Amino acid sequence: MQVPFLDLRIQYESIKDEIHQAVRKVCESCAFAGGPFVAEFEKAFAAFCGTKYAVGVASGTDAIWAALIAVGTGPGDEVITTPNTFIATAEAISFSGAKPVFVDIDERTYNINPELIESAVTPRTKAIIPVHLYGQAANMDSIMKIAAKHNLHVIEDACQAHGAEYNGKRAGSMGIAGCFSFYPGKNLGAYGEAGAVVTNNSGLAEKLYAFRDHGQQKKYYHSMVGWNARMDGIQAAVLSIKLKYLEKWNQARRKNAALYSKLLKNTEGITTPYEDKSNRHIYHIYAVRTCDRDNFIKKLAEKEISCGIHYPVPLHLQEAYKSLGYKKGDFPVAEKCAEEIVSLPMFAELTGEQIKKVTSEIKTFLEK
Ligand SMILES: Cc1ncc(COP(=O)(O)O)c(C=O)c1O
Repeated sequence: MQVPFLDLRIQYESIKDEIHQAVRKVCESCAFAGGPFVAEFEKAFAAFCGTKYAVGVASGTDAIWAALIAVGTGPGDEVITTPNTFIATAEAISFSGAKPVFVDIDERTYNINPELIESAVTPRTKAIIPVHLYGQAANMDSIMKIAAKHNLHVIEDACQAHGAEYNGKRAGSMGIAGCFSFYPGKNLGAYGEAGAVVTNNSGLAEKLYAFRDHGQQKKYYHSMVGWNARMDGIQAAVLSIKLKYLEKWNQARRKNAALYSKLLKNTEGITTPYEDKSNRHIYHIYAVRTCDRDNFIKKLAEKEISCGIHYPVPLHLQEAYKSLGYKKGDFPVAEKCAEEIVSLPMFAELTGEQIKKVTSEIKTFLEK
C-alpha cells in the first residue's frame, strides 16, 4: 500500500461532475478575468471567514503584497514576521518596498513568539504579519495587543489556515486584513493559482479592489498605480464548488490528525503537533519532529510512504535574504525546528489503514 504525501485526484473524482459543469458555465459566458463568478465566490468566502469583504486575487503572494500596499507600506518601513514560513510572506514584504524583520518562533506551535515581538519594534515598523502555520492560528490576542500599543497593522498570513479558528474567530478575520492562497494543494485549492484578501474595513477593500485591477474603479480611469492581480473566472467557479465541502474536508483532516497523534502517543523519538486550546487547527500540514530526520524519511520512502519538509531552511538563512545580515544562531528555535521537522502524509481522503501503516513503520524505525 502506497501512502502519497498528498493525493488531489481522489478529491477531484468525488466532485468532478459539479466541477465540469461549473467550468463549462464560465466558458459559455466567457467571464474569464474577474467578473460574476469571482464576485459570487468573494461573497461566499467572506461569509465563510466571517468578514464583510473578500477580494479575489491571483495568488496568496499577491494577497499579502496587495494588503501591504493597501495599508500604505513602502520603502523605509519594516514589517515583522516569522522566519519559519514559506518565502512568499517575506517576498511580499520586500516587493512592497519594506524590509522584513524576523522574530523567533514558539517551539510548541511553530508560530511567531509574541513575547519576542516588542523588542523588534522600531519607529519604522509598519505592520506585523503573523503566519498561521500548518493550519493553526498564531497567538492573536497577544499580537493584537502589541499592535494596538505601537499603532501597527496586523496582516494575517492565513494561506495555510482556511477555516482555522482562534477563540472562535476565523483565521483572517482578526487583523486589518487576512490573506489566503488557493494553491492547488491547500485545504481549499483552486485548479491553478488564486488567492484572496479578507477584511472588515471598507476603505481597505476599496483600495484592494482597485489595486488588483490596475488601480481602476472605472474602466481606463486609474486612481492609483495598481497591478494585474485579478482572480480568473474558472478558478472562482471551481473554488465556489469546493468551498461547500471545505468544512467536511477540514473535519476529515482533524480526524486524521487525531488518529496519527493517538497512534504515536508515547512513542519515544517523535514529537506530535501541539494544538493550543484557543485553536481549531485545520491540519493543512501534520508536522512531527524527530532527530534523525534524513534516515526517518528514507526508511518511510522504502515503504512507499512520502513525506515533506516545511521548511528546511528558515528565511533568515536563505541565500535570497543574505543582504539582511542575519546569521546562524539568530533564531535558535526556528533553526532547531527546521532541522527536525517532517510533514507526514495529510489530506482529507487519507484512510485509517494508511495512517496505521505510516505510524507502524515509524514505530518500527524508532524502536530500532
Ligand atoms: C504561509 C504561506 N504564505 C504565502 C503563500 C503564497 O501563496 P501562493 O503560492 O498562492 O502565492 C503560501 C503558499 O504556499 C504559504 O504557505
